[in-house]
Amino acid sequence: MDTRTVIKGIGHYVPPRRVTNFDLEKLMNTSDEWIRQRSGIVERRHVEPGVGTSDLAYEAAIRAIEDARIEPAEIEFIIAATLSPDHYFPGIGVQVQARLGLVPIGALDVRNQCSGFIYALSVADQYIRAGTFKKILLVAAEVQSTNLDYSDEGRDMAVLFGDGAGAVVLEPNTESDGRGIMTTCLFADGRHVQDLWLEKPSSKDKPCVTEELLRQKKFYPKMEGKNVFKNASERMPEAVRFALERSQLTVDDIDWLVPHQANDRISQMVAHGLRIPLEKVVRNIDRYGNTTAASIPIALDEIAKDGRLKRGDIVALTAFGSGFTWASAIIRW
Ligand SMILES: CC(C)(COP(=O)(O)OP(=O)(O)OC[C@H]1O[C@@H](n2cnc3c(N)ncnc32)[C@H](O)[C@@H]1OP(=O)(O)O)[C@@H](O)C(=O)NCCC(=O)NCCS
Repeated sequence: MDTRTVIKGIGHYVPPRRVTNFDLEKLMNTSDEWIRQRSGIVERRHVEPGVGTSDLAYEAAIRAIEDARIEPAEIEFIIAATLSPDHYFPGIGVQVQARLGLVPIGALDVRNQCSGFIYALSVADQYIRAGTFKKILLVAAEVQSTNLDYSDEGRDMAVLFGDGAGAVVLEPNTESDGRGIMTTCLFADGRHVQDLWLEKPSSKDKPCVTEELLRQKKFYPKMEGKNVFKNASERMPEAVRFALERSQLTVDDIDWLVPHQANDRISQMVAHGLRIPLEKVVRNIDRYGNTTAASIPIALDEIAKDGRLKRGDIVALTAFGSGFTWASAIIRW
């Protein structure tokens, strides 16, 4: 059998400040009832001023490294997934690298939004299976709260997103027990760029930041909620079925389905589409909201640490987001 990539360590970090739906009621015309009914979200975490995505990423990274029982110096390569880097450039991978004292190993940033973790996992898997690296740190982190429109106009987005980070340490499986990543499947449809995007600043404008653009609220993310909902609900089950087929498995073989936590109604639709019982679907959006690239590793870490996830379990991951991009992966844990 080919070498498989295993998750040797996993960790997550969310900022301590809880923001409830009731807190948001004070900022905009929304209600706890509306948010719960439409999304399943009860609260989310927001960073304090001065805390950035690379800070959350670093915290998750050290937890994953500890969990892997290795020294940071053993890491050979870093992959970071985020849509909300501290700076327009460079990405956060280099910041995590420097804070871990890992100069001059390579640090790659992946920009695939909500699908970022699975896209990055796919890249890491290729490097490990090719023998290029033996230990890769993959970190996915987001700070959404500092760039949402907390007025009535932006309430569709503002209530959904939260801040957080998750990380994994990946290495080749040296045993012949079949554990590890069985497949990763990546998809995109660039005709939907404008359905979920942060339009400005844009390289097309000169100057790219103007008061007029600010007045038009062009620096806030926007989405066509219904279209995103429909596509997410359809593409994720399709992607899981594709990955199962490639792995010669069926839906019944799945022990845990970890969908990107976009909206609890979407997760339920994905479960329904796959005819998989809801007890097998990991859902924690009630506590964190949508943490974009970080949502899958946060959820995965929770079931790994609370004992639900057992060695040898079949785990299906799937995500959908801006681009549109979507993805799936099957792991024998
Ligand atoms: C955003 C979302 C929850 C809206 O749910 P919906 O059932 O489609 O609701 P609608 O769009 O029909 O909106 C109904 C009304 O609620 C209003 N509304 C929107 N956000 C609101 C909020 N936070 N509080 C109260 N009312 C709100 C709308 O303005 C609309 O009012 P109108 O009928 O007067 O125009 C849903 O579309 C969704 O989850 N989409 C996918 C989002 C997502 O997952 N994005 C990230 C993907 S990775």
